[in-house]
Amino acid sequence: MKKLWGGRFEEPTDALIESLNNSLAFDSRFWRQDIAGSIAHATMLGTTGILAADESAQLVAGLHQLRDDLEAGTVALPPDAEDVHTAVEGLLKERLGAVAGKLHTARSRNDQVANDIRLYLRDECDVLETKLQEFQQTLLDIAEREMETILPGCTHLQHGQPVVLAHHLLAYFWMLDRDRERLADTRKRVNRLSLGAGALAGTGFPIDRHQVAELLGFEAVLENSMDSVADRDFLIEFLSFASILAMHLSRLAEEIIIWNTPEYGYILLDDAVTTGSSIMPQKKNPDVAELVRGKVGRVYGDLITLLTLMKGLPLTYNKDMQEDKEPVFDAIDTLNLVLPALQKTLATAQFKKERMLAAARGDFSTATDLADYLARQSLPFREAHEVVGKIVRYCIEQGITLEDLDAPTLSTFHPLLAVNTQNAQAALTLQYSVSARTSYGGTAPSAVRVQWENAKARLNNRA
Ligand code: ARG
Repeated sequence: MKKLWGGRFEEPTDALIESLNNSLAFDSRFWRQDIAGSIAHATMLGTTGILAADESAQLVAGLHQLRDDLEAGTVALPPDAEDVHTAVEGLLKERLGAVAGKLHTARSRNDQVANDIRLYLRDECDVLETKLQEFQQTLLDIAEREMETILPGCTHLQHGQPVVLAHHLLAYFWMLDRDRERLADTRKRVNRLSLGAGALAGTGFPIDRHQVAELLGFEAVLENSMDSVADRDFLIEFLSFASILAMHLSRLAEEIIIWNTPEYGYILLDDAVTTGSSIMPQKKNPDVAELVRGKVGRVYGDLITLLTLMKGLPLTYNKDMQEDKEPVFDAIDTLNLVLPALQKTLATAQFKKERMLAAARGDFSTATDLADYLARQSLPFREAHEVVGKIVRYCIEQGITLEDLDAPTLSTFHPLLAVNTQNAQAALTLQYSVSARTSYGGTAPSAVRVQWENAKARLNNRA
């Protein structure tokens, strides 16, 4: 396919250099956005009188037809074109002849490519927003069922205090909620018009950038033509969002992997989301969760690639920036794969309430509750902590659990335990411990129900 810039050259480009230079292999992904941008540009060239009305109309009709034919597969982008912009313009020329050459009036590929990727990313932000909402809905559904399911709550992966499973899973709801906030905020800066910047300095033609922005649904027009063609912040912001989201998913994936081990046995993963081993017939591996955990590495890599790519680039456009696309596509593809995969893993998992409860029994995780009980009897918390520490040590020496302590023994540890000993014993039960944590955002089922309602309202309000 003929190049857009052959005029000043005597010799053809070396084949090896062409394979380095050409970007069609990856930028063909946004041919729809390239055509949409051209339709808006051609329309504006007509309304401003830069092109005659019939020329503008021919271009717009030709672009519509080309879009339909590409969509139907009756025509294809020529694989030897330098990039998607060249490919689209070349096909238009085959159809319309010389007038196709007027489409590029008052435009450069520098403002065009920035425009295309903004349109493309805006669409992808909306796809991801929907997938995030669906993931949150799954978390809400499971939380609703598991409002009273007790399991050990951990710090340092050591049993800390018992919590309910709904509380644990809703923690991920709020992580994804912040991801959605970041995505929406990123989208604002994606949704700005670069077209009309020309190569870098603007144009002498009487263009109307605001009209183009309106036609393409952009919220604003970028103020500086040099910034318009040189800015890739919006891609870096998107990859930051993607990295944080991927990190959240990897944390959940890791918990699923741990919970699925025979030692824990908190969940049983469905056959549809696990795989076997070629040598060990008994194996059922949590590959989905492992891949979600593993794929975070490439998303971080995509972010670092782009940060490194842009570092130190002088104004304005530099060809280095052609390398901005593949990391963004990779992050988008990865998220579009792992979000629904992990969601399915969760949605089809069986949660083993009895195993969770058994793990929380006898784990000394109600020790804080006994200390709180003594503190409520006006013993300074530090002293209460000391007393309960001695009780825990005694239990460990005797090989018994806190719940096993009989009233006479418990009474010996402190005068305050010698009165109303049955209340102190009650404080040591898991149900008491969980139900007592009624503070806002706490794990008591009554508080978790409030949290769940707030989460639900949040999901519905922003949907
Ligand atoms: N394929 C190029 C890119 O992705 C399009 C812009 C080319 N501009 C240029 N001045 N060579 O960045």
